[in-house]
Amino acid sequence: MEAWNRPVGIFDSGVGGLTVAHAIRQTLPGERIIYFGDTAHLPYGDKSEEAIRNYSRRITDFLIGYDAKLVMIACNSASASAYESLLEEYGDRVLILDVINPVVEYVSSHNYDRLGVIGTKRTISSGTYEKKISEASPSTDVVSLATPLLVPMIEEGFIFDDISNAIIRTYLSDGRLQKINALILGCTHYPIIRNQISKFFNFDVEVIDSARIVAARLKETLEKHDLVSRGGTGEDMFFVSDYTDYFEKIARMFFESAINLRKADIWS
Ligand code: DGL
Repeated sequence: MEAWNRPVGIFDSGVGGLTVAHAIRQTLPGERIIYFGDTAHLPYGDKSEEAIRNYSRRITDFLIGYDAKLVMIACNSASASAYESLLEEYGDRVLILDVINPVVEYVSSHNYDRLGVIGTKRTISSGTYEKKISEASPSTDVVSLATPLLVPMIEEGFIFDDISNAIIRTYLSDGRLQKINALILGCTHYPIIRNQISKFFNFDVEVIDSARIVAARLKETLEKHDLVSRGGTGEDMFFVSDYTDYFEKIARMFFESAINLRKADIWS
């Protein structure tokens, strides 16, 4: 198979990476996507760095087994914990992109005074955003807040309702997020509740979600390596490690058609 004809592999712990997959579909409609949602281990945000590295390694093997030309880590928790180790181990075989570095580059070209970041416990406790932003843009103050209930809430389908509004309001009322100019959604699940978040701030705070920024980075990377699909590459495939109706429902919502969803038991 020609190298450009190979699929783009994308993974996350669950539905979150679908926000990235959707942006990729819009930016690069000719690319074939192989998606893996590790629903058996969700949420990643509560796992140790070592566990997330192991999951990420096994999933990368799986995606390479489907001949992926690039592996997109569509998960902040895995980007914070496993990007460097995946690069080291697989970087000579496959292109690898994460979701944090492109966002750091985006914000450092915008000179914000005070930036907020929300994400899982794993992402926030790693300090990755703070470290990288303070290196790239020393005049920007970064405040971060772990919002661990949001992923299970979204995966359970609590969106646009009273429960989710109450949880979102409770988290975002935290004093640390006062006077921010922009808020980074440091978890790929959060764009699903982006409107509720923007509404909490009366649409006065820029809400930065990585999906479009990361899709643009993917396009540049594929162009640079002459790997952009020239079309006719076949059907997308979506795998989960544990079947959930909700995954299928959200995937349909993003891809507006029946999706080819399979369970892949890669852990036994
Ligand atoms: N969507 C993921 C992230 O960006 C993972 C969330 C989780 O499983 O805790 O961090």
